[in-house]
Amino acid sequence: MLLKDKVIFVTGAGQGMGRGIAQAVAEAGAHVVVSDLRLGPVQETARLVEAAGRRALPLMADVLDSQVVQSAIRQTIETFGRLDGWVNNAGVVKMDSALDMAEEDWGFQFEVNVQGLFVCCQLAARQMMAQGGGGAIVNIASNAGKVGYRNMAAYNASKAAVINLTRSLSLEWAEHNINVNAVCPGGVDTPMLLGVAEWLTQRLGGDPHELVKTMKPNQMNRHIQPIEVGRVVAFLLSEQATIIRGQSINVDGGDTPY
Ligand SMILES: NC(=O)c1ccc[n+]([C@@H]2O[C@H](COP(=O)([O-])OP(=O)(O)OC[C@H]3O[C@@H](n4cnc5c(N)ncnc54)[C@H](O)[C@@H]3O)[C@@H](O)[C@H]2O)c1
Repeated sequence: MLLKDKVIFVTGAGQGMGRGIAQAVAEAGAHVVVSDLRLGPVQETARLVEAAGRRALPLMADVLDSQVVQSAIRQTIETFGRLDGWVNNAGVVKMDSALDMAEEDWGFQFEVNVQGLFVCCQLAARQMMAQGGGGAIVNIASNAGKVGYRNMAAYNASKAAVINLTRSLSLEWAEHNINVNAVCPGGVDTPMLLGVAEWLTQRLGGDPHELVKTMKPNQMNRHIQPIEVGRVVAFLLSEQATIIRGQSINVDGGDTPY
């Protein structure tokens, strides 16, 4: 019960990692605001949060629309009275070789993965400062931001930006008792990972479901599940993690040694 009765907001919570994070923070005792581009999927996530005995608020919010995000924060305060933690999980990948990548695909990945994430950090931090008492933010980066995978140049660079931004925000907001960290997952069993496998098999042949089965950490003979990433996120959101600040923690089963 690391997050007992805390109020945590998760973006991109309609499927995949965001849903697992919502479940994990509920398991740790938090009430959860679950937001995504469409309402149906977050209503399903909300049911899972409620099944864990916690309250959920499903909301439709595009992280690219700051007014909508601001209104989602208002609804959070109306419903729960405060905001203790924020998880920037919404993210996109558009695969292509660096030579062929379209400018708009580069821009789109930076818009969602970096700019949208930054604006959410800013709005969440303003709310935490206004209400007093501090809070915590966890950004979902990727080990792609450290390693750099083929056919993902923009995604890799956008996640590297998230890693660096996390350090800057941690430094600037420490005096407000807001702790900012990131996690760097490797391959996690989500629709995004299947999408990557589909892109690869369309070009190289083979079955995407078979390829996905091979996308496991070297040191583990199984996939990482979203809720496992979520449990690390829950810890980083808690007061137990106060001495971890501005870090980007690998949650990739040991694949990235730095
Ligand atoms: N799956 C992996 O292997 C993996 C590895 C490392 C990092 N990540 C990161 O984890 C996060 C979640 O990934 P996932 O695998 O669950 O992906 P996913 O594509 O399965 O889910 C992403 C969710 O984000 C939502 N989203 C996208 N754009 C949005 C926007 N503008 N506003 C609000 N919501 C938006 C989508 O609707 C979707 O529900 C992403 O930031 C991703 O880059 C994933």
